[in-house]
Amino acid sequence: MAEPVRVCITGAAGQIGYSLVYMVGSGVVFGNDTPVILHLLDISPMMGVLNGVSMEVNDCALPNVRDVVATDDPAVAFKDIDAAFLVGAMPRKEGMERKDLLAANVKIFKAQGQALDQHAKKSVKVLVVGNPANTNALICAKYAPSIPRENFSAMTRLDQNRAQTQIAGKLGIPVSDVKNVIIWGNHSSTQFPDLRHATAHVNGQDVPVYDAIKDDAYLKGEFITTVQKRGAAVIAARKLSSAMSAAKAACDHMKSIWQGTPEGHFVSMGVFSDGSYNTPEGVMYSFPVTIQDQKWSIVKDLPIDDFAREKMDITAKELCEERDDAISACQD
Ligand code: NAD
Ligand code: LMR
Repeated sequence: MAEPVRVCITGAAGQIGYSLVYMVGSGVVFGNDTPVILHLLDISPMMGVLNGVSMEVNDCALPNVRDVVATDDPAVAFKDIDAAFLVGAMPRKEGMERKDLLAANVKIFKAQGQALDQHAKKSVKVLVVGNPANTNALICAKYAPSIPRENFSAMTRLDQNRAQTQIAGKLGIPVSDVKNVIIWGNHSSTQFPDLRHATAHVNGQDVPVYDAIKDDAYLKGEFITTVQKRGAAVIAARKLSSAMSAAKAACDHMKSIWQGTPEGHFVSMGVFSDGSYNTPEGVMYSFPVTIQDQKWSIVKDLPIDDFAREKMDITAKELCEERDDAISACQD
C-alpha cells in the first residue's frame, strides 16, 4: 500500500459532505491502494453533527480510511494536507442565482486561502465546490500566494456530467459512450455547454454528436438551457440544492487530477485563464483540459464558430464582474 494521502473536506457536516466523505473514504478518488486520512472541517455550531458523521465513517469500516480528524479549526484541518475539497459555504435557495451568494461566501474563501497558505503542503490540490465556485477559487488562490495557482480549480464537472447524461438519454446509449462535451466559462446560468467537439459511440463507432443527433434546434437550444438551469430545477424539486450528484462530480474532478485523463479524453474544470481562446486572463474560466502527472493543460486549437464565440464571451463577462465584486467584498 502507498503512503496515506491527507484529504480535507470542508462543510463536512453539510449535505454534500454527507455523500462526499463516504465516497472519498471508499477509495474511488485516490485509488484502492491508497489509504486516506480524512480531515473534516465545519464551523463550531456544527461540531455535534460533524462528530456524528465521523462516527459513521468509522462504522463504515472502510479499509482505505486510516484516520478521521473532525475539527472546527482550519489550522488543524489544513495541516500538511495533500488535497482539499472546499465545500463549506452557503447554498442558494429557490429564485437565487449562484452569484447572489458572493457577498456571503467569498470571505470564507479568503480566510481559507490564508489558512491553506500557512498550513497545507505547497503541493496541495484544491478543488472549490462552494458557490460561486469559480470566483471563490480565484479568491482562495489569491490569498494563498505560496501555493502555485495551478493547484486551484473550480468545479464544473457536475455540468459536464449533466450534459453527458442528456445526450446519452437522447441517443439511448450509456453515459460512458459520450465523450468530450465541454463546459466553457462560469458554473452559472451563463455557462456554455458545447457539443461541437463531443462524440457518441453509436453502431460500433465514435461519431460527432452533431451527426448522431441531427437536430440543431435541440442542440443549440433546449440542450443548452436544460444544462444551464439544471441546478435550479433540482432546487425547485428538492427544496435543497444538488448534493449526491455534486459529491459524485467532486470525486470525478479530483480523480481526474490525481489519476489523469485517459488518452483522447478531455474534461472540463475552472482553471486560471492564460488568455486561451480569447478569454480574459486571470479569471477562473472553465476550459477543456487534459491531465498528466497531476498537471492540467488546456486543450488548444479547437475551432470556435460565431455561435460559440458569442456564448463564451457572455460567460467571460460575468466572470469579470464577479471577480471585481469579490475583490471589493474582500477589502471591506
Ligand atoms: P449545506 O448548507 O448543506 O452545507 C454546508 C456546510 O458548510 C454546513 O455544514 C456549514 O456549517 C458549513 N460551513 C459554512 N461555513 C463554513 C466554514 N467557514 N468552514 C467550514 N464549513 C463551513 O450546503 P451544501 O448543499 O453541502 O452545499 C455547499 C456549497 O456547495 C454551496 O455553496 C452550494 O451552492 C455549493 N454547490 C456547488 C456545486 C458545484 O457544482 N460547484 C454543486 C452543488 C452545490
Ligand atoms: C448545482 O449546480 O446544482 C449547484 O451549483 C447548486 C446550485 O445552486 O445550483
